[in-house]
Amino acid sequence: MFIKNIAEKVGQEVEIKAWVYNKRSSGSLAFLELRDGTGFIQAVVAKDSVSEESWSNAEKLTQESSITLTAEVSKHPKQEGVYELQVKELLIVSLSQDYPIAHKEHGPEFLLENRHLWLRSKKQWAILRIRDMVETAINEYLHTEEFIRTDSPIFTPNACEGTTTLFPVPYFDLGEAYLSQSGQLYIESAIASVGRCYDFGPVFRAEKSVTKRHLTEFWMMDAEGAFIEHEENLRIQEGLVKAIVKKCLDNCEQEFKILERDTAPLKKVLEKQFTRYTYDDAIVKLNEMGSDIKHGEDLGNDDEGLLTKDSDVPVFIEKWPKSIKPFYMKIDPENNARVLNDDLIGIEGSGELIGGSQREDNFDLLLERIREEKLPEEDYSWYTDLRKYGSVPHSGFGIGVERAVRWMAGVEHIRECIPFPRMVNRLKP
Ligand code: 4AD
Ligand code: MG
Repeated sequence: MFIKNIAEKVGQEVEIKAWVYNKRSSGSLAFLELRDGTGFIQAVVAKDSVSEESWSNAEKLTQESSITLTAEVSKHPKQEGVYELQVKELLIVSLSQDYPIAHKEHGPEFLLENRHLWLRSKKQWAILRIRDMVETAINEYLHTEEFIRTDSPIFTPNACEGTTTLFPVPYFDLGEAYLSQSGQLYIESAIASVGRCYDFGPVFRAEKSVTKRHLTEFWMMDAEGAFIEHEENLRIQEGLVKAIVKKCLDNCEQEFKILERDTAPLKKVLEKQFTRYTYDDAIVKLNEMGSDIKHGEDLGNDDEGLLTKDSDVPVFIEKWPKSIKPFYMKIDPENNARVLNDDLIGIEGSGELIGGSQREDNFDLLLERIREEKLPEEDYSWYTDLRKYGSVPHSGFGIGVERAVRWMAGVEHIRECIPFPRMVNRLKP
């Protein structure tokens, strides 16, 4: 029996296997707050209604001890929709000794050092579940748009997103491999087989950025589709973000409550079309708002905040200067200094959620860009091949899962949005 389904069993006896999240006693009564992974529930042990052994077990219980119990399910006397367990028998599976994370404030370093245990706390439980819902929403939405999952390798011979953030790995007699920064180049190959596809897995960036939004290992979903051009690419991205928001609103009520996440801004996101600025307009607007950003520069954290602060919906910034974007983006036919790309900037300080673009599908132009960027031409020959055999206009994008989870959960730091964060200064546990 799982706690989440307990409402179906009011008045009946159930067996529950759980951990003791918290405990308080008053005389001949013990109140246990239990968690079993699916939810939390209070169990009441009355000395008079259980065997001596069960009572003595209840007295011994410590925070995080594991137990099994049989109990009758009852409605909470005062709170609507809340249930309790009236314990009949209680057995100890394992007594926990001196659990280090008490129900009080701990510093972030201590909690990160104990991440393997910290995951059990209510807030982390809620975030893990929201993460699952975000991933589920992504998988479901993409299938409704006819994308299938193909996945990409992690060991790669070349860079996808610039050569400055690569993690090298010694690779047998073949020299150096790099941990993938994005599976995009690989799914660009796979679309010629299956039309529309996506990968979903860990990617790596040797970025020395110590911010609340950067991890060195994070999960990315890259989607790619044949015959998709810039406009449709944006439509799919907007649909995806709305699908994530809706899925979480529909399924994570309890989690939002635990996280004290105000869901009103999320509901509003579903009501309107996302705002769109060209990069050029965004720079003008930012300068008007007091930013000292210059044309040709990437947007900083503050700029992203400024541009979205009065917006109810995420904001697309499209058609960036080609000079500050990767080699594979397609040149805008209306302005050859711009590319057909977009960054989607989230609201509520969530920053860049998605990066996407139409890809250069012309062999000669792509080769020219590879040469301009001084990339090792030979290493990309397999990628340029794709432009030789039935090249098609195509587009895609990548969403950082932890960025989406951070926004949905309304947590400040991305380190809480992945079970075991990897950051410049953290590799343990
Ligand atoms: O904008 P990025 O670098 O785009 C790509 O890698 C493309 N190849 C994707 C594609 O077109 N298939 O990364 C995509 C997203 C960003 O918008 C951001 O959400 C997230 O990945 N991201 C990070 N998340 C956490 N930590 C980091 N260091 C991140 N870098 C990017
Ligand atoms: Mg980007």
